[in-house]
Amino acid sequence: MKRRSFLKISASTAAAVAVSPSLIAETLKSEDGKALFKAYEKVQLKDAEGNPLKASKLVKEENYVFMYPHAATPAILVDLPEPTQKEVKLKAEDGTEYIYTSGSGSKGTIVAFSAICAHQLTHPQKAMSMFQYVPTTGKTLAYEKPGVFVCSSHLAAYDPKQGGKVVGGPANQGLASIVLEIDKDDNIWAVAVLGPNKFQEFFDAFKTEHKAEFGRRGAKKLIATEAKVVTLKNYSAELIQA
Ligand code: FES
Repeated sequence: MKRRSFLKISASTAAAVAVSPSLIAETLKSEDGKALFKAYEKVQLKDAEGNPLKASKLVKEENYVFMYPHAATPAILVDLPEPTQKEVKLKAEDGTEYIYTSGSGSKGTIVAFSAICAHQLTHPQKAMSMFQYVPTTGKTLAYEKPGVFVCSSHLAAYDPKQGGKVVGGPANQGLASIVLEIDKDDNIWAVAVLGPNKFQEFFDAFKTEHKAEFGRRGAKKLIATEAKVVTLKNYSAELIQA
């Protein structure tokens, strides 16, 4: 795939990706061969009772956790108070560039990011989470303005309005974004991952924990058909935020 067409693929064009069989499960690469976008099986987000999660019912600035694209890789969805910026140019730590076009939904406010810190892989766990979106009414030591994702391990801050770009702390690249599609019935689907991800490092680092929780190969299993969504406060017993 040529670079020009790659650069046009992003969150807001997810519908086109989802309906084009030729793109499903295809890894799109930049000219230098680095993978920056990968379409996975289209997965519908459902609430804890198994009902479809509706975009218009999302509580503003709530942290919603779901596993995508693998059984053990957490993501966080947030409906921001304002639309994201458009056509944000981002760079992975190896220098590969990619473009985040905009958030999803009728106002471009709905975003989702892989909730694995790009610094040292801190992520929401059932016992505790030090990684979360801090609402605009909150406070954080990690960045001058709240309304950012914060990893309280070493105070990395990522701006969801800029496609998950690092705006503070020690991370060398932004968060991978989960490409969403919102259909005409207000249902939310996860369809792809855009940007550099930390999945392999994550599997390598947490091999023992993953084996205990998911069995021998369960952690890497790709989520299919649907993903259960819960609020972070219901997912993690304790939330720690600096
Ligand atoms: S692990 Fe997140 S800031 Fe260090």
